[in-house]
Amino acid sequence: MLKFPAPFPASVFVCTHKRPDGSPKPCCADRGGAELRDELKQMSKDQGLETRVKIFTSGCLGACEQGVTAVSFPGNQLMLGIKREDLQKILDEVAG
Ligand code: FES
Repeated sequence: MLKFPAPFPASVFVCTHKRPDGSPKPCCADRGGAELRDELKQMSKDQGLETRVKIFTSGCLGACEQGVTAVSFPGNQLMLGIKREDLQKILDEVAG
């Protein structure tokens, strides 16, 4: 295994997990997870933060009942029920 510091100081992992149709459990894909991830990524780029804040796709983070879920680093913040109006605050918090 090789280890070295990541070339960016902050990251946000947005869940886009998709459950099969008919599943009794909700999923972030059906609640717009991919669209929120894409918008957050575009906002990061538009604000010149793309070298400081990396936006990634995540699998299930275990909070499916709460709406779209993401986790950010540093700080290990689990964010539940994310809406479009939360995205700027998320960027501001992780970018410092
Ligand atoms: S499907 Fe996104 S947290 Fe479970």
